[in-house]
Amino acid sequence: MNISGATDWKETLAPDEVERFERYASELRELQRRNARGGPPSRALHAKGHVGATGELIVSKDLPEALRVAVFAEPRSWPVFVRFSNGSGRHQHDRTADVRGVALKLVGVPGRKLIPGLEDKRTQDFLLIQEPTTPFRTPDEFVAFVRAAAKGPGLLVPRLFGSLGFGRTLGLLKKLASMPKVTSLATTPFYTALPLRFGATAAKLALFPVDATPAGVASGAPGALREELVSRLRTGPLTWSFRAQLFVDERTTPIEDASAPWPEDRAPFHELARLVLPQQDLTSASGAKLEEQIERMSFDPWHAVEELRPLGAMMRARAIAYRESVLERQAAPEPEDMVKLAAG
Ligand code: HEM
Repeated sequence: MNISGATDWKETLAPDEVERFERYASELRELQRRNARGGPPSRALHAKGHVGATGELIVSKDLPEALRVAVFAEPRSWPVFVRFSNGSGRHQHDRTADVRGVALKLVGVPGRKLIPGLEDKRTQDFLLIQEPTTPFRTPDEFVAFVRAAAKGPGLLVPRLFGSLGFGRTLGLLKKLASMPKVTSLATTPFYTALPLRFGATAAKLALFPVDATPAGVASGAPGALREELVSRLRTGPLTWSFRAQLFVDERTTPIEDASAPWPEDRAPFHELARLVLPQQDLTSASGAKLEEQIERMSFDPWHAVEELRPLGAMMRARAIAYRESVLERQAAPEPEDMVKLAAG
């Protein structure tokens, strides 16, 4: 099969965007402080971690030239830290409607990194959510939603009407309501939902579960999603196929509109690697210590090499927001070496 992505993608930067994104980051930091209620702050968003685990990202053999980019250039295995989370800035019952996410941190990755001051770090992160797109077109819509949701469910709709208008609010609420309910983090696909550079082209990435046994009925406990995943990992490994969709053209696979799906018939997914979480007991003393360390880490799509630079306004807004959140909660520095860290 001849696989290639077009190289004429482009970003469109608004003249006022840095100032606007700084304002959004401060607003999220205020929310983070409020949610902490005087205690130690959690993440501004994705505060509740379900599981922190270690694994391997095993790059596929014989990848076609177009897919041999950055960490996928050679068939090899990368040690990886993984954190599953709920999207809210509050620690809520898993029954509460929310977006679920997963973050990967590859360790030992050479090359200059993008975050100023962290150029020499040896990590490459990928952050994904359960949906292939966001319901939000722009960071303005995203932050308007977070702001409205922070006032509690009763005020969400009137506040959204106020900031986004009637039609757009209805469209958003419809999309949010159609989000599938996650009963197991092991059987759910996860998507970057936003594009990143992929060498000369651009791509969206996704994780698809491989051979995961279907989920049973959720236990109803506040931490049901954690219980389910911990129990699976205690009895055996879990595997996902990590795949890329390549940029076609601005109309088919837009860069700046975060709500536009990239159609799979025009931009099919190609496997790059397999993510394997080996059997592990996270309830053991060493498992608990590892989870504590992963909880303190900073996962950020901008922990990346230039060949995998995040693209589009939502990604550029994240560049500022994650750094504020990380500073506020005094996250751990980037890990240098997985073996040393896991051994404590
Ligand atoms: C499709 C778009 C997005 C995806 C896939 C995504 C995914 C994630 C994930 C998985 C985490 C948890 C990371 C962890 O486990 O440490 C996270 C955290 C966070 N997200 Fe996003 N996110 C998106 C958009 C945004 C936007 C637009 C903003 C703000 C403008 C934002 C702000 C944050 C913040 C502040 C954190 C906490 C960072 C920290 O303290 O470590 N996210 N996101």
